[in-house]
Amino acid sequence: MKAIDRQYRTGWVGWLRDLANAGGTGGLNWHVHAAQSLQRWMPTRELIAQFLAQVQPTSSNLVLIGCSAGWMLPTPWLARFKHIDVYDIDPLVPLLFGIRHARTLRAQGVTVTYHRSDAIAGLPTLLQRHPDACWWFDNVLGQLGFRLGDEDMAERQLRQLKSMLKGREWGSLHDVYSGPVDSLLALPVCEAVQWTRLDDLPQEQAQVNLNKLNMPHADAAQALLGKLNATGVWHDHATQEVFEKGTLTTMLPWAFKPRYWHWLQAAWVRP
Ligand SMILES: C[S@@+](CC[C@H](N)C(=O)[O-])C[C@H]1O[C@@H](n2cnc3c(N)ncnc32)[C@H](O)[C@@H]1O
Repeated sequence: MKAIDRQYRTGWVGWLRDLANAGGTGGLNWHVHAAQSLQRWMPTRELIAQFLAQVQPTSSNLVLIGCSAGWMLPTPWLARFKHIDVYDIDPLVPLLFGIRHARTLRAQGVTVTYHRSDAIAGLPTLLQRHPDACWWFDNVLGQLGFRLGDEDMAERQLRQLKSMLKGREWGSLHDVYSGPVDSLLALPVCEAVQWTRLDDLPQEQAQVNLNKLNMPHADAAQALLGKLNATGVWHDHATQEVFEKGTLTTMLPWAFKPRYWHWLQAAWVRP
């Protein structure tokens, strides 16, 4: 059973803009790049599948935010739910998520409802609408800065998110850093590392536990970039404080383009 809810009214211009690039975070641009990159993304998709396989949500309802066509999502993990509410601003999502996942899900008795909606701005309302669901932000939070056009505002909003989600079961996969890798060196190895922020101090003073070793945040960030043979200027996606300090997170390398990589962060939070 497929239902589509169209409460996000942007007019034709907004609809076309979201169709094309969804505020620089998705749309047709994204789908073409994703479809052409699936093979290169395979190691990261496997790391995501391994991460999600360990997540055992207690709710049978999932609110899935910013999943696009679910290019990086494993269908078997989605199949553990009875009902999925998909929220994305991209008008192509019902069609493409339907082709990649929903047909199989339907055959397994999972129902999917699509909402074309700004789920970050509308989060307080959505939390009321779905009191019993668990939540997965699917590589959407790291693009908030692009969408708002203001990194400081994005950082503030992202820091507040965990308070809004208090008492809920939720997780997120999001960009932390992205940038060019050295084209003269061999391509980096796609290996996950564990990362825990140990305090709420500003980054220059903060301590992080990286693969069981405590160190200053700056050293941990350098170690991550070093693993990917980073070169040039890297972008910080302002997502450092999405999770509460002390949350064990998994950092996953992602060959977004052959020589332009990202570090993604994933964690699942229980109330
Ligand atoms: C980088 S893409 C995510 C890709 C997706 N996880 C996948 O595997 O294909 C970001 C997605 O988030 C959506 N998005 C961006 N901001 C959003 C918002 N405020 N509310 C809902 N969806 C949003 C975009 O339309 C896009 O589909």
